[in-house]
Amino acid sequence: MGHIMKALPELFDNNRKWASRITAEHPDFFTGLAAQQAPKYLWIGCADSRVPANEIVGLLPGELFVHRNVGNLVIHTDMNCLSVLQYAVDILNVKHVIVCGHYGCGGVKAALEDQAHGLVDNWLRHIRDTYTRFGRHFEGISDNAERVRRLCELNTIEQVINAGNTTIMQDAWRRRQDVAIHGWIYDIADGMLKDLDVCVTSPRELDLLQRKK
Ligand code: CO
Repeated sequence: MGHIMKALPELFDNNRKWASRITAEHPDFFTGLAAQQAPKYLWIGCADSRVPANEIVGLLPGELFVHRNVGNLVIHTDMNCLSVLQYAVDILNVKHVIVCGHYGCGGVKAALEDQAHGLVDNWLRHIRDTYTRFGRHFEGISDNAERVRRLCELNTIEQVINAGNTTIMQDAWRRRQDVAIHGWIYDIADGMLKDLDVCVTSPRELDLLQRKK
């Protein structure tokens, strides 16, 4: 106590430089954005500081609607995530919902451990459940790091399925709205994105994906 900074001047300094750099390049940038946003993509990713959504895919403010939480989870009772999804699909009319997991996810790692971490363990329980449900995918994998990598992928696929099963996506597809859900994974070790090839654009494709696992 007493030593904590109540102002963070370096961050405000960064902000001033950032805003003037963008304004110098595009004088109308902020005034245009203030009037409206029309992003084509919704990003559902992990809260991890090493996975900055816009930077990874080279998109500017206004181009990516973003929701992040620990472990990039889409939980059917999470009004926060569902509200973001609903607003993105119904009002912003995004064409693509990107669920992006990442290798080296602390949430996934923690879900595989027996160690207690407090409240967050209740959230991570969803990842542990996925691990249990996909048990057969782990049978031949003895290396722990490899198990974590595999679970990072499977957890992402599970969230694509969860997103697809929401009333929001089901209703959108029923009214023939063009909207796809993608499952990608990002590698914090080299900055590269990989498509997990689980894209779904209809209840039928979602059904096929669910049966594949
Ligand atoms: Co993570």
